[in-house]
Amino acid sequence: MAIESLEKKYKIAACFYDLLDYPWERMYRRWRPKLLNDLNGDVLEAGVGTGRNLPYYPADIQLTAIDQSAAMLAKAKKRAGQAACPVTFYQEDVCELKHIADLKFDWVIATFLFCVLPAEYHDKALSELAKVLKPGGRLRLLEIVYSKDPSIKRRQQRLAKFAETIYGARFDRNILATLERSEYFTDIKTQYLKEDTYLLVDAVRAIT
Ligand SMILES: C[S@@+](CC[C@H](N)C(=O)[O-])C[C@H]1O[C@@H](n2cnc3c(N)ncnc32)[C@H](O)[C@@H]1O
Repeated sequence: MAIESLEKKYKIAACFYDLLDYPWERMYRRWRPKLLNDLNGDVLEAGVGTGRNLPYYPADIQLTAIDQSAAMLAKAKKRAGQAACPVTFYQEDVCELKHIADLKFDWVIATFLFCVLPAEYHDKALSELAKVLKPGGRLRLLEIVYSKDPSIKRRQQRLAKFAETIYGARFDRNILATLERSEYFTDIKTQYLKEDTYLLVDAVRAIT
């Protein structure tokens, strides 16, 4: 799916995103504080969506939040008051960062972005994120992936059509493989938050 049609999808999805996602958000909201509580300095959140992470950022960071969907960004801006830190929003495609200064960020955070972004754009997105991270800066991703356990995978496959139709999300987009091939990132660490389906990835911007 081209990036433009993803933007059209999210124009509609934004209207009911929080409602439809609520059953999963009840689980995610237990994880979000732990994903964000050790951040410092300048932080970029890519694919901020409706701003579900905003309440959990530490007060002493400077947050820049981007999303390519104006409709999703509008929802996130309504949640800006729930953030303890200052937030600046931009409508930006993660594959072509125009408003974001190079070498600015200590951290980049993206939750459920790369399962939505078509795989052919993953290299480009990672190189853009590498460009804006300081050398030694950190990338943290949370993604949903297919389980290797056949019974869990069958359960996921029953949801797959819904996830792709509504969110453009697929569980077979393997950002970890792209990251491992990338010249820009090193010290890649992974952890599953539930079964082998919710994958947390930490990586360091290589000093080149
Ligand atoms: C599944 S939502 C996740 C939202 C949020 N991160 C969360 O954890 O709830 C994916 C978000 O990524 C955004 N997105 C998709 N492609 C993008 C791109 N190329 N650049 C920036 N944002 C993008 C979508 O508009 C959507 O808001």
